[in-house]
Amino acid sequence: MKRLGVNIDHIATVRNARGEKHPDPFFAASQVVKMGADSVTIHLREDRRHINDADAKKICKLKNIFVNLEISMDDKIVKNALRIKPNYICIVPENRKEITTEGGLNLTKNKKKLKTIIEKFKKVKIRTSLFINPTIKDIKLSKELNVDCVEIHTGRISNLVKLKKKYNTEFSRIKKSSILANKLNIEVHAGHGLDYKTTKILNKINEIQEFNIGHFIIGESIFYGLSKVIKKFKKILKN
Ligand code: PXP
Repeated sequence: MKRLGVNIDHIATVRNARGEKHPDPFFAASQVVKMGADSVTIHLREDRRHINDADAKKICKLKNIFVNLEISMDDKIVKNALRIKPNYICIVPENRKEITTEGGLNLTKNKKKLKTIIEKFKKVKIRTSLFINPTIKDIKLSKELNVDCVEIHTGRISNLVKLKKKYNTEFSRIKKSSILANKLNIEVHAGHGLDYKTTKILNKINEIQEFNIGHFIIGESIFYGLSKVIKKFKKILKN
């Protein structure tokens, strides 16, 4: 069965709105796993707008919970991540002014830097992933970089589906990229902007093994509760 990673950044967003301790992302991490999530994703952003260093440290120490830490290529953040030692790392592009991650990494421009970072994490046996756009070129470059996994940015297909526009071309790009990655022994993940409908659509691609979903899960949970929402996603991924 395909795995579900729940991104809990926005639990910290709500907490930070008050500058107090509630709701606690550390508590959320263990709860989402009890409710059926296969892993927890957190993004330690350079501006610390949601998850902070103390959250990341505490969450990564949780036993029996797989934590996927998203980080930029910033030297200080990479050093921090090596100290925190999550189970998994996902390297993402980061731009201080963006509301959320706006696209995949520029692998061509950052090849040398990414190679050094990936080697550092591989040395300490941390599964490492690159957040990329669904292109054949980027899958081939990911192979050259010897990364364990790629996470395909699903923002574009999610927007097309939400706007009720044709999404076949984007779906086909994701499918072709996933098939090639799989052939090259790179594990395929997908994430960004996903809701029930887009997850159902992308679930048809057998090569995708993990979905990382945040904003929709946290938002929908306001109305229906985390447990129900996570269970509904798990049911989609079973089919
Ligand atoms: N995967 C990655 C690599 C991301 O950067 C994000 C957004 O932080 C997500 C998944 C989750 O996206 P969303 O919150 O839109 O579900």
